[in-house]
Amino acid sequence: MTAREWVIVNPGGSHRVVVTGELPGERWLQLLTAADCRVEIAQGHEVLVAAELRAAFANPCDAVIGQITESWSEEMLGALAAAGALIYSQYAVGYDNVDLAAATRLGLPVGNTPGVLTETTAQLAVALTFAAARRIAEGDRLMRAGAYRGWLPTMLLGSLLFRGTLGIVGAGRIGAAYGRMMVEGHKMDLVYHDVRENEELERYVADYAAFLVARGERPVTCRRAATLPELLGACDVVSIHAALTAETQHLIGAPELAAMKEEAVLVNSSRGPLLDEAALVAHCRAHPCFRAGLDVLEREPAMAPGLAELDNVVLVPHLGSATTFTREGMATLAAANAAAILQSWPVWPAARSLEDVRPFLEDEAPPRAAPSIVNADALGLPRLAASPQGKEDQQ
Ligand code: DGY
Repeated sequence: MTAREWVIVNPGGSHRVVVTGELPGERWLQLLTAADCRVEIAQGHEVLVAAELRAAFANPCDAVIGQITESWSEEMLGALAAAGALIYSQYAVGYDNVDLAAATRLGLPVGNTPGVLTETTAQLAVALTFAAARRIAEGDRLMRAGAYRGWLPTMLLGSLLFRGTLGIVGAGRIGAAYGRMMVEGHKMDLVYHDVRENEELERYVADYAAFLVARGERPVTCRRAATLPELLGACDVVSIHAALTAETQHLIGAPELAAMKEEAVLVNSSRGPLLDEAALVAHCRAHPCFRAGLDVLEREPAMAPGLAELDNVVLVPHLGSATTFTREGMATLAAANAAAILQSWPVWPAARSLEDVRPFLEDEAPPRAAPSIVNADALGLPRLAASPQGKEDQQ
């Protein structure tokens, strides 16, 4: 292991904030320095190993901004709390790498970055859907191999998803945004599977259906499937947007793949372990007309044996939130979470959408609040009160 380089910004700052990897943009650093933080940033592209992490936040440390590639186990969080940290701020919306129950027991707030990546990630899922359905990567490989000999009526025929049936597994923020994009853009009927009913999404599709009817067109429909197999058998596209938990690991395995249509498209832009990758390889080998688009892998960055050889699978390296706007915005939210907790500010009332978090990203004087603390309620952290006009009262 070579010695890690660190860049130190605002060395005289009185709160020590450790940032476990380089982050894009500048606003996040401005927020931290304005909050009187000394910011220590790990350099390079290698993920910090546990020993490096521990050494980095050895006494005293007030906050860590960390990443999904690190394991924030009970032991690691315990060491962080013992180093005096007041917050672990995750540079991501997902936090399956963090033992949240342990953090709460330790009294340690855990920040995350919702809102800013909803549309971005949904858009990537749309891109993967069509890359798989329309065989974009295969076409690209053919061109680069110099194998294009001219237009042919039978070359690389894919699937037309227009007016087909779309299945969403997990209809939370990102799943619902993806659903809206696909329903509105491609007039697909929507089936979703979720433990909760998503009334807002159902209303949205009903309103769009009414719009189509008013134009003399056939409406689209939306329904919640009672069971996962019911959804799988009915859909031309199945996109996974569930959170990874002990219960959802391998949510889609060999039996679920077998329940899908022979020519279906499966997309995963959530977390790799939701899908049994070895089962997917076997299924795609046996069913060449089945297609998959994966943004995430079961054991990132490794790929299951055989995956890379499959023409009917499109692979990208966990790019869901990878736009400049979003990755800079995530840095801003992660820094704002740390800065707010270090200054004993309350938690923002809600960070469900981009509009909810926009003041943190754009306002000259950002709100004096932490945008999103996952265990705020469990820890009894105060929330900023919303005024009767719906504007937040920042006094
Ligand atoms: C997240 O935020 O959880 C993504 O996986 C990384 O953008």
